[in-house]
Amino acid sequence: MPAYVNLPVNHQVTIMNIAEIAEQLEHTGYIILDQPLPVNLTSALFTRCHDDDQANFQTAHIGRGTDKKHIDSIRGDVINWLDEMNATDLSYLACMETLRRGLNEALYLGLFDYECHYAIYNNGAGYAKHSDVLNGKKNRILTTVLYLNEDWQSSDGGELVLFEPDGTAVISTVIPKFGTMIIFLSESFPHEVLISHNTRRSITGWFRVSGS
Ligand code: OGA
Ligand code: MN
Repeated sequence: MPAYVNLPVNHQVTIMNIAEIAEQLEHTGYIILDQPLPVNLTSALFTRCHDDDQANFQTAHIGRGTDKKHIDSIRGDVINWLDEMNATDLSYLACMETLRRGLNEALYLGLFDYECHYAIYNNGAGYAKHSDVLNGKKNRILTTVLYLNEDWQSSDGGELVLFEPDGTAVISTVIPKFGTMIIFLSESFPHEVLISHNTRRSITGWFRVSGS
């Protein structure tokens, strides 16, 4: 999977308030943003995710190396890593690069790179409660998910449920509607994607530190 380093910084297309994001991450460990990116960029990302009719998407796996496996009942999405050669993907990556630098300045997180993929959950797919920090690999620091679904109805399901760090109480239930982005500390919050009853599109990514 690609990790994106040495990308251009695009201040113009980022409308998110990085100071506010940093402050909330410091205090609560997560933030839900309504429309952090310009609508035309989010629309272009939707088109990218939609256009090839899933031809380039692969079954998502859980775990890594010899632990890597595919179990539909645990994780049902298909994924496609962003492509630096594509102008739309590059615009998104540039926004996230601006965010990476801003968060490093504000919080000294030492975020080194960002990896991200489009994800499609077809009707009937979900992702059981899990942590994004893979066994033995602790380099994922912040998870981001940007949702690309216009006119999402409550009957479409597919909500992201975020749990307290101890995995018991629900902290937040996020509707995967167009333009919404959640950012959270990857290691701190177990989370689950409820079964989707419609085609659910998003971009999931991780800011990482180097090493390990
Ligand atoms: C993931 C994940 C959440 C979502 O891909 O690890 O938890 O809402 N995604 O798509
Ligand atoms: Mn996850």
